[in-house]
Amino acid sequence: MAERILIVDFGSQVTQLIARRVREAGVYCEIVPFQKAAEALTAESPHGELKGIILSGGPASTTEEFSPRAPQAVFERNLPVFGICYGEQTICTQLGGQVETGHHREFGRAFLEIKDDCGLFDGVWGKGEKHQVWMSHGDKITKIPDGFRVVGVSDGSPYAAIADDKRKIYAVQFHPEVMHTLDGAKLLRNFVRKVAGCSGEWSMKGYRAEAIAKIRAQVGKGRVICGLSGGVDSSVAAVLIHEAIGEQLTCVFVDHGLLRKGEGEQVVQLFREHYNIPLIHKDASQLFLSKLAGVSDPETKRKTIGALFIDVFEEEAKKIGGAEFLAQGTLYPDVIESISFHGGPSVTIKSHHNVGGLPERMNMKLVEPLRELFKDEVRDLGRELGLPESLVGRHPFPGPGLAIRIPGDITKEKLDLLREIDAVYLDEIRKSGLYDDIWQAFAVLLPVRTVGVMGDGRTYDQACALRAVTSTDGMTADYYPFPHDFLGRVATRIINEVKGVNRVTYDITSKPPGTIEWE
Ligand code: XMP
Repeated sequence: MAERILIVDFGSQVTQLIARRVREAGVYCEIVPFQKAAEALTAESPHGELKGIILSGGPASTTEEFSPRAPQAVFERNLPVFGICYGEQTICTQLGGQVETGHHREFGRAFLEIKDDCGLFDGVWGKGEKHQVWMSHGDKITKIPDGFRVVGVSDGSPYAAIADDKRKIYAVQFHPEVMHTLDGAKLLRNFVRKVAGCSGEWSMKGYRAEAIAKIRAQVGKGRVICGLSGGVDSSVAAVLIHEAIGEQLTCVFVDHGLLRKGEGEQVVQLFREHYNIPLIHKDASQLFLSKLAGVSDPETKRKTIGALFIDVFEEEAKKIGGAEFLAQGTLYPDVIESISFHGGPSVTIKSHHNVGGLPERMNMKLVEPLRELFKDEVRDLGRELGLPESLVGRHPFPGPGLAIRIPGDITKEKLDLLREIDAVYLDEIRKSGLYDDIWQAFAVLLPVRTVGVMGDGRTYDQACALRAVTSTDGMTADYYPFPHDFLGRVATRIINEVKGVNRVTYDITSKPPGTIEWE
């Protein structure tokens, strides 16, 4: 049965995690900014009946005059409601309780004492127990609305968890969506499955069938072009669309010569030979290299590559007679509207949108079958479609490829050298069974030569840096703590196997303050 949960976003950094937890419980959900929540409450959705509402945390204070509120309709629909942090404060403010500011800040780990049973805790927490939760709030609730009772307290919050079982409204001061609230996922599961009564049947199998029907309905007898990059998203999108409309799809793979060792061949082999999907493989590496000659500024590299990519893609598309639709592997995190409380554009750290403007320029409509999914859901869908694990589990790779891993200007020789270093590094990571623990791992060719000694001779060769990070979304990252013997082994292998390199360093910068890529 189609059913969904609505998450009203008040701008918390971790709202997406609420969505992840709900979906892990087998229930489809959508995030809407609070300004659009009223509209979303009445809108029809192809994803079925609305069964419950979650109010997220957020940075504002309900004690301020123009701070965000949930639309009153949230409380008038007779739907179960779960307020988290700011969500609890706005429930209290809107339903007749009271919130005060600045008395007691509570950040980080805290212990919740369970005062009473309630639907949210069912089968998870019992009366009298104490459990670790994660707090992050400055305001304090001083009175709860009529109809509510206290079900949990912490040292800093006398109303850390409250419940109105009759109206099925629950609210907590802590964040159940983060890992540090050890049983948090179970509470969210209880809310969507037990309180809101969702069946929990949402799965990638169902999503696949639904997405195929949607693609067929959108495209009809039209033609679709899909740009392949060799990455997970565009590959999964292409295979899904091919399953929906077969030969109406043509894939275009523009090889800009900035790929890793063997990557181009793998894409061609998989799509043309294994899946029998019509594929144009355009080797444009000469063109890209000639236009990039002498370019060393990172943003100019990105813009040059982006513009050229569009030119080549357009030319290839024209050759096959054009198409009405362009397929893109856009993901849910790109679609969720971010909320800005402070107004004004945020600074551009790196311009990531390499192919922006293509659909308008070619007058094509977009087919984006992954726009409701998170990255690991795309991986699950890829598995469901039978894509090989080597592709489905692949680390993200940036559109401008190795160009942004060679500080300074780019030449074919440098690219070849980097490809060899990268291949040895990744091989060693795979052999050590560490690949899946790492979000991204790659080598950077440094614009530095250093003195070394090999055998009886002095060398004056290139230095490289290795990078590996863990992350959940690429927005923040920690460097990966490789064991020293791993680092020693990989350095020895690179220097022995890659002629022209005599020094290996390991980058231990996290993000922030660094970025994942060096450029
Ligand atoms: P940074 O370096 O900004 O990277 O910490 C975050 C994530 O984005 C990828 N990245 C890019 N992806 N085009 C892309 O398609 C780009 O220009 C680009 N720059 C960075 C990076 O690999 C990491 O996963």
